[in-house]
Amino acid sequence: MKLSVSIRRTVLIIWLLTSAVAFAQQAQLTSAAVEKRIDSILQKMTLEEKVGQLVQYSAGSPTGPGTGRSNYEEMIANGQIGSLFNVSGAKKTNAMQRIAVEKSRLHVPLLFGQDVIHGFRTTFPVPLGMSSTWNTTLIEQASRLAAQEAATDGIRWTFSPMVDIARDARWGRITEGAGEDPYLGSHIAAAYVRGYQGPKLDDPLSMAACAKHYVGYGAAEGGRDYNTTEISERTLRQVYLPPFHAAANAGALSFMSAFNAINGVPASGNPFTLRQVLRKEWGYKGLVVSDWNSVGELLPQGVAVDGAQGAQRGIVGGVDMDMESNLYHTHLAQLVRAGTVPQTLLDESVRNVLRMKIVMGLFEHPYADENKSTFGAPLPDSSRMLARKVAEESFVLLKNGGSGQPVLPLKATAGQTIALIGPMGDDAGNMIGAWGGEGKAPDVVTLKQALTDFTTKSNMKFVYAKGVELVTAEPTGTDNISAAVEAARGADVVVLALGDDAGLMSGEAASRAHLNIAANQRQLVEQIAALNKPTIMVLFSGRPLVLTDVEPKVPAILMAWYPGVEAGPAIVDTLFGTNNPNGRLTASFPRSVGQEPLYYNHLNTGRPVLKADLTRLPRTGEEKYLSRYLDELNAPLYPFGYGLSYTTFSYSQPKLSATTTSAATLNGGRTGGDIRVTAEVKNTGSVAGQEVVQLYIGQRGTSVARPVRELKGYKKVTLAPGESKTVEFVIGRDELAFYNIDMKNVVEPAKVSVWVVPNSAAAATPAEFDIKQ
Ligand code: NOJ
Repeated sequence: MKLSVSIRRTVLIIWLLTSAVAFAQQAQLTSAAVEKRIDSILQKMTLEEKVGQLVQYSAGSPTGPGTGRSNYEEMIANGQIGSLFNVSGAKKTNAMQRIAVEKSRLHVPLLFGQDVIHGFRTTFPVPLGMSSTWNTTLIEQASRLAAQEAATDGIRWTFSPMVDIARDARWGRITEGAGEDPYLGSHIAAAYVRGYQGPKLDDPLSMAACAKHYVGYGAAEGGRDYNTTEISERTLRQVYLPPFHAAANAGALSFMSAFNAINGVPASGNPFTLRQVLRKEWGYKGLVVSDWNSVGELLPQGVAVDGAQGAQRGIVGGVDMDMESNLYHTHLAQLVRAGTVPQTLLDESVRNVLRMKIVMGLFEHPYADENKSTFGAPLPDSSRMLARKVAEESFVLLKNGGSGQPVLPLKATAGQTIALIGPMGDDAGNMIGAWGGEGKAPDVVTLKQALTDFTTKSNMKFVYAKGVELVTAEPTGTDNISAAVEAARGADVVVLALGDDAGLMSGEAASRAHLNIAANQRQLVEQIAALNKPTIMVLFSGRPLVLTDVEPKVPAILMAWYPGVEAGPAIVDTLFGTNNPNGRLTASFPRSVGQEPLYYNHLNTGRPVLKADLTRLPRTGEEKYLSRYLDELNAPLYPFGYGLSYTTFSYSQPKLSATTTSAATLNGGRTGGDIRVTAEVKNTGSVAGQEVVQLYIGQRGTSVARPVRELKGYKKVTLAPGESKTVEFVIGRDELAFYNIDMKNVVEPAKVSVWVVPNSAAAATPAEFDIKQ
């Protein structure tokens, strides 16, 4: 069966509508009326008041080293602050806003920001988990709800989405993004922006998005946070920039410049990325804010000898607003007076701030409605239901029986006993994950709570033992593995709830050189596994882990990330089959840390290991001189795109609408160059399931080497048992163009392989077509 005409029509209508919203928002950003209004404010401003608009401080709990300032009320009244962040609750934002609107000379309202990363009050899974849904509709809905909740409390600007491509699991901030792929990452970036900003920017419940961290932050050397990056221009354009471009095209009102230096030039004073690419090439009209003190960090990075030079490098480099460094406040006016920073440059940055405030309707609606504040109120059921749905779709079933019988889904058999073992079983706080916004542990339903409810209803027995403490390094001496083993001994099924402390082991400043689960948890696995019970390991983590040692010991592994407020019910639904897992990995799981950085869309070498990898020392010259490790496979343990289901799917060989196309036609934007790809996907099991059908291409014969495989399409399809659907993709200019030897984004003559497969590593004979001149 083909995807029906009506589905395609709906897809087309949705595409037209979302494009129309982005277009209307762009039109607002370039409207002559808005510019006139900016002119009229600008001409009344003193130099100091202009600088004030470019200054931002955190007035709440810090998310970085502080400036020591606290006289914000006085500064606001003097017109010395344009934006504050980390001010929580409508009462507090309104109190600060009243000073700006009523007491400052020009009454310019403040813009309140916050890191609303995966929900505000209603906590959704961490972004890496959200990306594993491969469901942009859900991500958009989750961000819409987050925006409504935050804006109700006066927060009209979120520092999200983080659209950094992350190819290295050692980097703790991999948890904040959409993983390793620029194509999927671009779709997800746009979905977040649409969700936060909604259809109308001046709606008091819309929230400005901020695409961060521009750019290349995820390429930190060695996966060590804040570290330097070396990224060729081609890789920058091909891999790291696309999600930012997608966010800009979706209308993201702001960008945040990053901490890292790119090829020696810090990102928060980088005229190439900020002025050449963002402003000139993309025509971006939004605001660029620095990251926390990243203008101040130009000094230790070595491109400024003092604060004045730091401020000058920041603004000339393209940073409009200075978050927390204090350098614009201290030096900018003097730099402009001395002619070191041109007045026009300063005015341009002030315009970018005022434009954002105007299009967001802040002059008309500066205050939040305190009666509607979400603080302290219980979460509505509808919000919980959405959080549960996103959590369920984010789970990735990594193993289910291996070569033996599947363990999942479980049957609710009256009289049987389930043992829940492990430190994550009843840990509400950790379910929130890093950057929890205003998410609160008491709002979380833990796995213990949900299993208690479920087993009571099903007349099953339930036991729980923590077994070990969550530790980052040293054991605390309070582990009690033997009590856990005793609890599990009498059970019919064991659920092991393990993983990393969310706050300490993932997120910002949480890089790791070791990626195993903690040693005491590994001991727990060992001893529980020795009981030989049907055991399911449910893992909570914000990054891919090295599971090579524990994987053989348990028959089933469910990756749950940090699932948010509905963690427990979502996991129980999944264990008992009400939810058939359909999440797919967006970041490769290594077998060993030494494989990092590890990503599926790498270039081929001249000496690829074509057959099986060798895990022993090479015995012959032929085995030795290959691109390989002596002591580990090249392949990940679980590849990008991977995830199991309670059913099975079969794929037909893909069919192409033509075996040749023309580069000239595609480059010239003429019709007739596209190739349609169809493949039949069938549910070959006995329960309904959702499959993420993935389209990959590979090109050969081009002027620069192209990745072995690149994702260029995906569709999530629902199939009843025995049902098949023909899934269709189109490969056109967007899918085929790349930055060639002349750094031009073009389609070149090539031989193209096409795979329609369940994950990036799935073996299949590709269909092929040629791109002729
Ligand atoms: C530093 C982080 O890098 C950034 O992601 C965040 O938005 C700011 N702090 C503000 O909290």
